Amino acid sequence: MKTSIVKKKTDISHKPIGQFEETRFEKIHNVIFSDSNEASIRVAEEIAELIRKKQNQNRTCVLGLATGSSPIRVYEELVRMHNEEGLSFQNVVTFNLDEYLPMEKSNIQSYHYFMHEHLFNHIDIDPENVHIPDGTVSPDETVAYCIDYEKKIKDFGGLDFQLLGIGRTGHIGFNEPGNPFESRTHVVKLHRETREVNARFFDSLEEVPEYSMTMGIKTIMRSKRILLLATGEKKCEAIRKTLYGPITPDFPASVLQLHPDCRILVDKAAGQLLEMNSGTMAV
Ligand code: GLP
Repeated sequence: MKTSIVKKKTDISHKPIGQFEETRFEKIHNVIFSDSNEASIRVAEEIAELIRKKQNQNRTCVLGLATGSSPIRVYEELVRMHNEEGLSFQNVVTFNLDEYLPMEKSNIQSYHYFMHEHLFNHIDIDPENVHIPDGTVSPDETVAYCIDYEKKIKDFGGLDFQLLGIGRTGHIGFNEPGNPFESRTHVVKLHRETREVNARFFDSLEEVPEYSMTMGIKTIMRSKRILLLATGEKKCEAIRKTLYGPITPDFPASVLQLHPDCRILVDKAAGQLLEMNSGTMAV
């Protein structure tokens, strides 16, 4: 007789404080996956579910999107769902977290290029509904540009969902240590460590722009739902501080402890300093 084992899907639905573990040391609902691929697929499924729910209600779905290596597999899965399962993005409006400054859209290191390469070129989203901070805005126009970016998010009724990665400095978007929690979309000077880490994508450290434009902490915190995805050993200390550490602008991701619907999905490597106390283990 043939026995087939059907692996149960990991439940990543949000559980408020006190309801996801018996002994609570971590201050945000988190799930540790043995396989980062599964985590990415679960994120893509949740995004697809939200898009379809809004479609049924004839409403727009406003997504906050991220760049970096962490979300690549999520976008790949969304593209697959579009091609194979008919997932449509016609009711979707997107706002990206950040962009280098200055940065040409055609530069392959731009987040504009990244998003089109990994997602927008392969789905049926209306290009008018895609918003990515413009790295070509001149210095005397950035303040007005940032205010307008913020206004556009508000005009669409705010972000329904925000996808996040995390930098080793604890940055979310490009909100580096010291950024005030009250910040809205603004220009930031990048942390030296961030430039060093991201230099791997450029020919040299000097080529990494010194500035960026990013949604502020407040913009991110206003999102109705947040999912942070982190993989790899290099993120384990940042994840530990995000979940256990004091809430301080010195470690921007710590602010997520105050969000009412935030979840953190990690692989074993990124969650290695949490395992003893984890509420959900998807192994
Ligand atoms: C960049 C982005 C962040 C992202 C971070 C992590 O710095 N501005 O939004 O979270 O990279 O990237 P990765 O997922 O490649 O580690």
